[in-house]
Amino acid sequence: MNKETFPTFTLDGKTIPFTAGQTLIQAAMAAGVYIPHLCFNPEFKPHGSCKICTVKADGRHTSSCTHQAQDGMVVESNTQEINDERRALLQMLFVEGNHFCPSCEKSGNCQLQATAYEMNMMSPHFDHFFPDRPLDASHPDYLLDFNRCILCSLCVRASRDVDGKNVFALSGRGISSHLIVNAKSGLLADTGFSGDDKAAQVCPVGVILKKRVGFAVPIGSRSFDEQPISATPHPVPAAATLPPHPQGACPVGPRSKAATLPPHPTVKGT
Ligand code: SF4
Ligand code: FES
Repeated sequence: MNKETFPTFTLDGKTIPFTAGQTLIQAAMAAGVYIPHLCFNPEFKPHGSCKICTVKADGRHTSSCTHQAQDGMVVESNTQEINDERRALLQMLFVEGNHFCPSCEKSGNCQLQATAYEMNMMSPHFDHFFPDRPLDASHPDYLLDFNRCILCSLCVRASRDVDGKNVFALSGRGISSHLIVNAKSGLLADTGFSGDDKAAQVCPVGVILKKRVGFAVPIGSRSFDEQPISATPHPVPAAATLPPHPQGACPVGPRSKAATLPPHPTVKGT
């Protein structure tokens, strides 16, 4: 098909072609343009919950992962106003959980951390909630650290839609929302979860961790240490603990050794 025949919209002034049914973020990714996002993963139906991907489309705020592209639309994404809003959302995510990045196995491969760097988040701004969330180390091969869950539902979607297991679910509402494991005991060991599951590979933060491989790749040599998340619109993660990802599967991408990395906002001794 001749490229000239595609309908287009503009994203921060750049012309983006799209095909019928594509969302704004899908078209942007296809064109190699980064829109910050957390709960979106190109392999799954959008969830539309984190709102990090919010853009202004024809003057109205909307989630770019759920909003279908329309011919002639004028979309703003990388603006001071929208990035300020994204930063505030990120700050809320950081204080709502316990994100102690320097001691986290996912540091340098974490999409939340990398997006916070991308948005120049220098402090948590809000008071920390410091929720009390016990770990689940019951499974022989995997650990769940609920402290880091951002409720993106990717593990829920992967387990339900790909693995056919329904191992994970989100429970509660509002500030009481939390991730649960589908077993009477509430323990991962009592589910059918396996390291081969798609659900074992999709967590953008450090909740679902493989045991006995922690820090195999030192912090400083990880994906987002190499280049910023914005540099990889179709990123393939290189998490030390994860098997190779199918191409274009996961929104996690690398951060640069760029000298400009700010001190992480949520440093806390453990
Ligand atoms: S465990 Fe990870 S993948 Fe699952 S909802 Fe929480 S942050 Fe998302
Ligand atoms: S709402 Fe679009 S990435 Fe989360």
